[in-house]
Amino acid sequence: MSKRKIAIIGAGHTGATLAFIVAERALADVVLLDQPHNEKPAKGKALDISESGPILNFNSKIKGTSDYQDITGADIVVITAGAARKPGMSRDDLIQINEGVMAQVTDGIKTYAPDSTIIVLTNPVDAMTYAVYKLSGFPKNRVLGQSGVLDTARYRTFVSEVLNVAQTDVTGLVLGGHGDTMVPLLSTTTVGGVPLTELLEQEKIDAIIDRTRKGGAEIVGLLGNGSAYYAPAAAIYEMAAAILKDEKRLLPSITYLEGEYGFNDICLGVPTILGENGVEQVVETTLNDDEKAQLQASADAVEEVKKALKNK
Ligand code: 2OP
Repeated sequence: MSKRKIAIIGAGHTGATLAFIVAERALADVVLLDQPHNEKPAKGKALDISESGPILNFNSKIKGTSDYQDITGADIVVITAGAARKPGMSRDDLIQINEGVMAQVTDGIKTYAPDSTIIVLTNPVDAMTYAVYKLSGFPKNRVLGQSGVLDTARYRTFVSEVLNVAQTDVTGLVLGGHGDTMVPLLSTTTVGGVPLTELLEQEKIDAIIDRTRKGGAEIVGLLGNGSAYYAPAAAIYEMAAAILKDEKRLLPSITYLEGEYGFNDICLGVPTILGENGVEQVVETTLNDDEKAQLQASADAVEEVKKALKNK
């Protein structure tokens, strides 16, 4: 197989952290692109990561740039560019600023990487994925957004903390929009196959679900300046690896729905199979009435945000 290439648009904390993980795990060569006034920091981060290669034993090439021509041939383009939330600012406040950023970035991708698969991280991510899908004209399997892998990772972390068990043994699935209305599916949560409901009383489970819903804001509050980036970068890595290595992973992703779960013309987090063709399938698991109502409320919240988009 020829060498794979991932272009990361936005060389902030998330973009640079993702570049480091991708390089260190030798998944692909990396192009780290930012706007012209940020080209030097992008180059600096790329060089710094390259210089860790001899020690960490990888040979991936990392290039910092502001020139979209450098993303030519990228298999995957990750969009992290955009304004980040400040304390007290909701994800939805960002919509106006970041839709403009999506338009600019999508133009570059259409010109130089028209065959790539796009993974969107920029918030509000459900609406931004929708915007990129519409702006790009790409088939729906090649435009997806990240939220569920991160939200599920937070949920797994909190469950493991409360039970004092290995976080890797906790499985679960968080669906819906990336916001306070996200839907952790309790029926899918197990620790090494044992249902969570057998291990923890409902009150403690409810507290974990509440903390998961506010997981992004918890980090924003602690950092005081900017939002989370280690776990978001790891989440993107997992999705990109599933696609590049054709792993057929069942992971939640934000994808364009045409009837699945009863929703139409919306990008929302649902269980998907990720492989070489991007989103290869939406998996429709049976939801109980409560979960259905929660997913509906989450879709309604995403629709509200979508209304603020100029291109819809
Ligand atoms: C988060 O939840 C940034 O949306 C991202 O931390």
